[in-house]
Amino acid sequence: METEVPVSEALVDTAPQVSPAQSVMDLERAHLLQNYSRYPLVLARGKGCWVYDLEGRRYLDLITGIGVNALGHAHPRIVKVIRQQAGLMVHSSNLYYHRYQGELAKRLTAMSGLDRAFFCNSGTEAVEGALKMVHSHGRTLEPEKYEIVSLDNSFHGRSMGALSVTGQPKYRADFEPLIPGVKFVPPNDVAALEAAFSPRTAGMILEMIQGEGGIYPLTPEFAAKARELADRYNALLVADETQCGVGRPGVYFAYQLSQPVIMPDVVVAAKPVACGLPLGFILANEKAAAAIRPGMHGTTFGGGPLACRVGLEFIDVLDELMPSIRRMGTYFLDRLQHLASKHAVIKQVRGFGLMLGVELNVPGKQLVLDGIGRGLLFNCTHDNVLRFLPPYIVTEKEVDRAIGILDRLIAKA
Ligand SMILES: Cc1ncc(COP(=O)(O)O)c(C=O)c1O
Repeated sequence: METEVPVSEALVDTAPQVSPAQSVMDLERAHLLQNYSRYPLVLARGKGCWVYDLEGRRYLDLITGIGVNALGHAHPRIVKVIRQQAGLMVHSSNLYYHRYQGELAKRLTAMSGLDRAFFCNSGTEAVEGALKMVHSHGRTLEPEKYEIVSLDNSFHGRSMGALSVTGQPKYRADFEPLIPGVKFVPPNDVAALEAAFSPRTAGMILEMIQGEGGIYPLTPEFAAKARELADRYNALLVADETQCGVGRPGVYFAYQLSQPVIMPDVVVAAKPVACGLPLGFILANEKAAAAIRPGMHGTTFGGGPLACRVGLEFIDVLDELMPSIRRMGTYFLDRLQHLASKHAVIKQVRGFGLMLGVELNVPGKQLVLDGIGRGLLFNCTHDNVLRFLPPYIVTEKEVDRAIGILDRLIAKA
């Protein structure tokens, strides 16, 4: 039986005083799965390209929740739409129609050149649906046609299916055996790609710019060969644009960077499309879409009226911002290249539009921590690639400020 504590005594706090930020971190440590190793920063709010911690200190946000907050924080048009729609209907399920899925599908198919859309909640879920599409496409043709070609160094998510095509042993090792029949090929190795395809290949998945792998773009020759082989073997070519898509590279989708455009059969994406609300999607041409028939796939939450309406507003704003994404992408890249010419510790600067990576000769984690200390947020992927996914509204002044901080941090590295 519990002993009753007199109220006055219960209110006397005898524990040593900890800061509000420390108590947030302690509470998590006590109650959450310990799968994340977070940076020691507790965020409270954001406005534009800036976020604020619990104590009110501000930070220039050039990682945007890993590429999600593309319009920055508390964008007035997004706040307005969320407020309006939240008062009408947040969720309806896919048992019924609402007016925004069809409208958003029409916009996204026009932007991509594909025919049909499916909405879900995340990049992983979109990849998962695309893998089902590939498997079903193959099985309809031949019982043994289920192999998938993927790339070394890729990242497609953490579900068992998405992990099966993720070409990084560190993510896969603890979960083997995964889905069989996946062949990994080094990116940009045309001969290896050719050798991996066979009549058993049902599809290939690739990121036109590998994101988590360290901002590595595929060459147009390699992507064109992937298209040619997919055609030759009647396999589906899936472009995972979760990180490199929806405006970030200065075009709607990264496969549109090459001329002529190398059209995939299927596109998956997520991150920025609903400005922080969970929304992912699959876009498919008629041939790929035919592989998913009634009852074969679905979701409870995916494509709700709130997320889809925000997605529509995002695309309207995106169209206005596209010239600025290109201009600021070039500006940021030039400034980073100038840093590289000053600091031998920078090995290479890579990327397109507002998806940029700075490869160092040394580990980058300490730089990320020092950046937080100086009010600048970015992250480090693959141990030594500083990754910048700035908001699409970033200005020259903000880039200059980031470059000034980076200059000092890198000089110390
Ligand atoms: C290319 C790519 N695919 C899939 C995913 C998984 O997306 P999510 O974390 O939304 O499930 C990511 C996440 O970073 C990604 O970069």
